[in-house]
Amino acid sequence: MSKVTVVGAGKYGSTTVQRLAEWDVVDEVVMTDIVEGLPQGLALDMNQSRPVTGHRTLVVGTNDYADSAGSDVVIITAGLPRKPGMSRMDLLEVNAKIVKSVTEDIVRYSPDAVIIVVTNPLDQMTTLAAEVSGFPRNRVFGQAGILDSSRFAHFISEKTGADIQSIEAVTLGSHGETMVPVPSLCRVDDKPLAEVLDPGTIDDLVDRTRKGGAEIVGLLKTGSAYYAPSAAAAYMAKAVVENSAEKLPVCAWMTGEYGIDDVYLGVIAEIGSGGVQRVVELELTDEEATGLAEAAVAVKEKVEDLAQIDL
Ligand code: LAC
Repeated sequence: MSKVTVVGAGKYGSTTVQRLAEWDVVDEVVMTDIVEGLPQGLALDMNQSRPVTGHRTLVVGTNDYADSAGSDVVIITAGLPRKPGMSRMDLLEVNAKIVKSVTEDIVRYSPDAVIIVVTNPLDQMTTLAAEVSGFPRNRVFGQAGILDSSRFAHFISEKTGADIQSIEAVTLGSHGETMVPVPSLCRVDDKPLAEVLDPGTIDDLVDRTRKGGAEIVGLLKTGSAYYAPSAAAAYMAKAVVENSAEKLPVCAWMTGEYGIDDVYLGVIAEIGSGGVQRVVELELTDEEATGLAEAAVAVKEKVEDLAQIDL
């Protein structure tokens, strides 16, 4: 029996649960939250949709981690979005405390799980979950690459008019400012992106992708994106549960690939039942390789901020 737990029943968490359930790729999805009644109510609602959609996966809503016991995959979405007036360090402190305590509960009940982290700031939270869990680093990884690549593909489709499913877009690096788009590996209808769009237009789309999350926050006014983020998170869990060995852009622990080590970085990795099975090294242009090396340095610096927090 396969079981996935999603920690956090906010918009991001609950949408992830619903997608996983509707794809019908696991037997049970557990949704935990500290708010009493919220995960239970959402689970009841989701389960009642099954006769209509035709899926069977059961959703269990709970406030008790004991119900998550023996999960194959745990997705951590818990945490606060940044609020007006909150500094990056404030957010780091609040979410680090949440992620630490959630990770301790996960380890207690699901010692063999693969942990997928989506809580921001992503690089720091993935590092923290890995440290607190004591799990092998390949069993803890983070999201962002699938989301950023997906946003990039959408913008390319919008600009070129090409079918969204004919676009291959790749982004590496970190989520946000140090995201490294890889235009040399992007294709539209099997043609290199550079043959379809001029460099200035590509740069504009890259810039919009980098700020993709902020653009949506600006429109929504309260809250942040969750449809594309949840699609990405659910897809990562699906790859683990199905042991698909698919090569996906994720935030993975580096052990010398591209000459980079000891840091969680957005790269392409083969994902299967053990989590990250291997990081795939791509042929990058000099500019792209430099961007990736710079992203690694930036993430290492950000991770040092964690040491300043009293957890
Ligand atoms: C975003 C958040 C989920 O990029 O990180 O929308």
